[in-house]
Amino acid sequence: MVELPNHSGDEKDPHPTGEQAVEIKSELDFEVTQQDVENLKTQVIAQLINKTTNFPNLTKSPALIDQFNEVYHIFEHTVKDREGHSALVIGPRSSGKSAIVERALNDLLEKYKDEFIVIRLSAYLHSDDNIALREIARQLDYHSKKFNNDEDNETLTHKFEQRGISDTFNNILAILDDAPSNSKDSDQSLQSAAIIFVIDEFEKYTGNNKQALLYNLFDLSQTSSIPICILGISTKITTGELLEKRVKSRFSQRIISINRPKTVEEFWENAKLNLIVDDKLLGNEKYTHLWNEHINKLFNEKSFGQDLRSSSNLLKIVYQIYFTTKNFKEFNNNCIYPVSRLSIESPFLRDSDFTRYLSKQSTNNIQDIIKSLSTLELLLVIAAARFIERIDLQVINFNMAYKEYEDMMKLFNMASTTSNNATTNSYIDNIVLTNLKVTQKTWLSKVLKNSWETLYKLGVIIDVVTQSNELNAANNNINKNFIIEENKMVQLDVTLEELAQIMEDSTVFKKLTKL
Ligand SMILES: Nc1ncnc2c1ncn2[C@@H]1O[C@H](COP(=O)(O)OP(=O)(O)OP(=O)(O)O)[C@@H](O)[C@H]1O
Ligand SMILES: [Mg+2]
Repeated sequence: MVELPNHSGDEKDPHPTGEQAVEIKSELDFEVTQQDVENLKTQVIAQLINKTTNFPNLTKSPALIDQFNEVYHIFEHTVKDREGHSALVIGPRSSGKSAIVERALNDLLEKYKDEFIVIRLSAYLHSDDNIALREIARQLDYHSKKFNNDEDNETLTHKFEQRGISDTFNNILAILDDAPSNSKDSDQSLQSAAIIFVIDEFEKYTGNNKQALLYNLFDLSQTSSIPICILGISTKITTGELLEKRVKSRFSQRIISINRPKTVEEFWENAKLNLIVDDKLLGNEKYTHLWNEHINKLFNEKSFGQDLRSSSNLLKIVYQIYFTTKNFKEFNNNCIYPVSRLSIESPFLRDSDFTRYLSKQSTNNIQDIIKSLSTLELLLVIAAARFIERIDLQVINFNMAYKEYEDMMKLFNMASTTSNNATTNSYIDNIVLTNLKVTQKTWLSKVLKNSWETLYKLGVIIDVVTQSNELNAANNNINKNFIIEENKMVQLDVTLEELAQIMEDSTVFKKLTKL
């Protein structure tokens, strides 16, 4: 156990770099042990990386509390009052959508254990209707086994999941719908449980023209005799509009939206919740109390309106993130290093540690970005640049770039078969590569759409600057929310010629930079 000194004015500061920390220590005399620091560190890092704790301070967030309550009540109505429901949670990346839903499900589990089951889908993992359906069947299967303990294990194992997709869905429908009629059935408990579907990246299921999965799910939520709740999570504000008519008519039209913070103060009020620890949570209440106070102090070091250059690093970071991405996860990433440096000698955050993460980030110039792209992203950039060069149009959208990509890959594959004879420059190459057909796969547009989004996020493609919006252009680019429609016209920040210069000579795709 170490007793921290109570500084009087003339005492020498033992940790000159820990300026901020000492300031608080001098206010109060308190004791802190190695264990206390370790506990706090573990807790805060867990909050920052959002692994096990799942944003414990969520209910303190003014930006999320109403949305959280709404989601919770929808779930509760489904489970307690046995009503079918559907809703969409819409908000930008890292705005707490998943946090809200997971927390609501956790709270629900405490109160209504065994009265509901959750089926989770994510369009990133279960990329089309068939895969999603199989996944639903698999999860239902798993739950039904759990509900029935081990008794009927054998017979239930493949109850839902059938070989044919349509069989599977029919099976699910039949079993869900027939609840009262065969109540003697062995999976009675499953039938009486409510089912909550949580569908992440919801808008990606609206892609195919029939929207069969969504249609069936929404239909189920309205007609099924057991209560079913469909909760979609999406980043696209237009998601509601993307639903086909007959799907839309079955959706409750309930949309819960999460907005970005509107002021720096508001951003900070939310962001700091990831650093703050509940006073009662850890053993040493006094320490956690001081810890929380200290975090507020760090930020308020220099009040707003003063010259930013002389203010605390934390404040600079908050400003920087607020005026660029407003992304809470980015803020968390910046805090991990300072928190990991906590020790018994300096039990509070040191402001000087804060710039460390930022200074290690790449400089973000276009050369570095191009070099860091994946093959697919690079090919898409080349295709876009070729299109612009060929058509002599300054703007481009995803559909155009994709068309060019297809043509380009055709050309590339044709060339790669024939050219081997002519261009190989060593004897071995001649032997090995002659008549060897090396083709590049041409990916589907839905695969490339993600790459397009990444390029937008990285700033390789940027919003169009016209004379009328030139003044706002800087703001527009900064505030863009990383979601980009297929037909949205954008500009490319690099030309074909520049690409040819940036790319290494050894890259096979370099020849594509010549028209
Ligand atoms: N309003 C907020 N206030 C403070 N922290 C937040 C807020 N929203 C998100 N965060 C932080 O960001 C983390 C990630 O949030 P979450 O996973 O819920 O984002 P999401 O909206 O689901 O993003 P994605 O679209 O990428 O799935 C949270 O654990 C939390 O630490
Ligand atoms: Mg999420």
